[in-house]
Amino acid sequence: MAPTCNLIEVFADPEALAVAASERIAALVAQVLAQREVFRLALSGGRTPRRCYEHLRYKALDWSRLEVYFSDERCLPRGDSERNDVLAYEALLQHVPIPPAKIHAIPAEQGPATAAEAYARVLDSAQPLDLVLLGMGEDGHTASLFPDHPALSSKALAIPVFDAPKLPSSRVSLSLDVLNAARHKLFLVTGVEKHAALQRMKEGAFFPAAQVVGAQWYVDRAALLGGSG
Ligand code: 6PG
Repeated sequence: MAPTCNLIEVFADPEALAVAASERIAALVAQVLAQREVFRLALSGGRTPRRCYEHLRYKALDWSRLEVYFSDERCLPRGDSERNDVLAYEALLQHVPIPPAKIHAIPAEQGPATAAEAYARVLDSAQPLDLVLLGMGEDGHTASLFPDHPALSSKALAIPVFDAPKLPSSRVSLSLDVLNAARHKLFLVTGVEKHAALQRMKEGAFFPAAQVVGAQWYVDRAALLGGSG
């Protein structure tokens, strides 16, 4: 089930994509907060979202009404520079007035199993999320859901991931069900190295990223067109 073309938006470069993504997120927050008290946002891991987060911090949002979650986390000590929550704090969260109690980091320092159980309890009262931000790896993985990995079929809300092919090999991920239950899903994908996976999905490869239904895809020319981007 390839991303349907009406959900793909193409940008000239990563900066243009980051600006547009931050505007899309801000618009969704305003739209949802006009109807509901709280906006539940799951932030993506990886490096691609950094610029989007940096632009987002200048948006005039009602930050006090956001609840922030993470699509996945790497089982590293708190504060480790390779953690997804550390990047999110540096680029966004430490610059905006979100009450600390409304930022739900994954306690990945506790190890995959314990952290996943604890995070499933947090997620239990937070369904459905309003927006999930996602990236995609060169193998078509998203969050910490990797191709042909047993975690893909788990029905838990948060899943312990062992032996992940992308280091660190121990991780915690939101499940496919939680991602698919979200009201909005937005993929941010840049760079020529992602072209092959996008191409394969267009040809029908059922990668984990392709199993997130009805998602919007923001991709840059290099990812969509490859070398000639
Ligand atoms: C992680 C991520 C992972 C990431 C993709 C893309 O913790 O590694 O959550 O799913 O989004 O691997 O990573 P980049 O944006 O760094 O290319």
